[in-house]
Amino acid sequence: MLGNFAYCNPTKLYFGQDSLQSLYTELPKYGDNVVLVYGGGSIKKNGIYDAVREILQKNGKNVAEISGVMPNPTLTKLYEGMEIARKHKADFLLAVGGGSVCDYTKALAVSVHCGEDPWEKYYARFEEPDCPIVPLGCVLTMVGTGSEMNAGAVITNTKTKQKIGHVFADEAVMPRFSVLNPQFTLTLPHYQMVAGIYDIFNHICEQYFCGEDDNTSDYISEGLMRSLLHASRIANKDTQNYEARSNIMWTATWALNTLVGKGKSGDWMVHMLGQSVGGHTNATHGMTLAAVSLPYYRYIMQYGLPKFKRFAMNVWGVAPEGKSDVQIAEEGLAAMEAWMKELGLAMNITELGANAEMIDAIADTTIVLTGGYKVLQREEIVAVLKASL
Ligand code: NZQ
Ligand code: ZN
Repeated sequence: MLGNFAYCNPTKLYFGQDSLQSLYTELPKYGDNVVLVYGGGSIKKNGIYDAVREILQKNGKNVAEISGVMPNPTLTKLYEGMEIARKHKADFLLAVGGGSVCDYTKALAVSVHCGEDPWEKYYARFEEPDCPIVPLGCVLTMVGTGSEMNAGAVITNTKTKQKIGHVFADEAVMPRFSVLNPQFTLTLPHYQMVAGIYDIFNHICEQYFCGEDDNTSDYISEGLMRSLLHASRIANKDTQNYEARSNIMWTATWALNTLVGKGKSGDWMVHMLGQSVGGHTNATHGMTLAAVSLPYYRYIMQYGLPKFKRFAMNVWGVAPEGKSDVQIAEEGLAAMEAWMKELGLAMNITELGANAEMIDAIADTTIVLTGGYKVLQREEIVAVLKASL
C-alpha cells in the first residue's frame, strides 16, 4: 500500500429480505417533502412501488414523483426533474431502481439548488457542488453499478453523444442509506442480470489492473472476483437462487464503494471505451464493457504482464508449471472469455449497434485516462475499437 488516501463511506446499508422496513427508521430523519424517483415501470409490476408508497404515506410524507428515468439517464430528463424537485421544495430524494435511477437522483441532488447549468458545471468542468445538496436514499432493484454506495453519477448528453460520469468528491452526494433486498432483483430479465454481473466484474478489474506494489486492495479484489464467478455460474442457470443473487448483490456494492480502489490509481479505460460506445448506441452499460474488454486487455497485457499472470493464477486457477508468463496470462484471459460466453454477454460492439463508420466518432468521445498500464494514443483507441467490432 504505497499510496496516500483518506477513507470514509457514510452510506448506511440495510441488507436482506426485511430491509425495506428500514425506511421506517430512516424517513423520519428528513423533511416532509419527498421526491420519489423511479424508472420505466418495473417497480409497478413487481409490487415494490406499492410497498414504498405505503411506507411513505404511513410516515406522513408529501410525495411528488419523477418517473420514467431511462437506462443511461439523459440531461434532458435531469432538467425535467430539477423543475419538479424545485416546485416541490424537495427535502429528500428517494431513488427506487437500478444504477440509472440512483445516478440520476445524485445528479439531481447537486442540481436542484445549482445556480448554473449542471452539465457545464459537473460534466464539462468536473467541478464540485457549491450549493446545498439535497439528501438522498436508495432502494436498489438492479445489481451492478455500485451506485448505491458511491458518489458516481453518469449522465448522457444526447445532443453531443457524450456519456460522462462524475465521481463527486463530496461525500454528501452519496446516498444517506441504501436498501439492498436481493428479493427485489429476482424479476430482472436475464440480459440485465448478466450485464450487471459483468459490470461488477469489470469494476474490480478496473481497480486491479494498475500499480505494481503489494496492495491489500488486490487481495480483496481477487476474493470478490472469485465469489462473483462462483455465484454468477449458479445464478446463470438458476436465476431465482436467492443465495447466489444475494452474494452477487453484496459483491456489487463492495466492488465500487471506494474500498478496493484505495491505494490504487485505477485504470477505467474499459469504462471510458464502453461509455463512449454507450453514448453512440444507448446500449446496456454492462454489455458495452463486455464488448470492448477482451480486445483491450489482450492489447495492454504486455504492459502489465505480472498482474495479468497473477490474475490468471489467483482468479482463474491457471496452473503455472512449465508455461511462460505470457502463456499463463493468455490462459487467464481465455478462461475469462469462456466465462463471458457462458453468461451470454455481448462479445462485440456490432451486436450493440455500432459499425465501422462510427469508430472515429466513438474514439472522439472516448476520454483517455492515465492510471492504467498504458496511456492509450488515439490510434490505439481506434485499433481496440476496430478489434471490438
Ligand atoms: O426502468 P425500469 O422499468 O425500472 O427497468 C429497468 C431498466 O430497463 C430494469 N430493472 C431494474 N430493476 C428491475 C428491472 N426490471 C425488472 N425487475 C427489476 N427488479 O433494468 C433496466 C436497467 O436498469 P439500469 O438502472 O439502467 O441498470 P444499471 O443498474 O446497470 O445502471 C446503468 C447506469 O449506471 C451507470 C451506467 O453508465 C448506466 O448509466 N453507472 C453508474 C456507476 C456509478 N454510479 O458508480 C458506475 C457504472 O460503471 C455505470 O457507469
Ligand atoms: Zn460500470
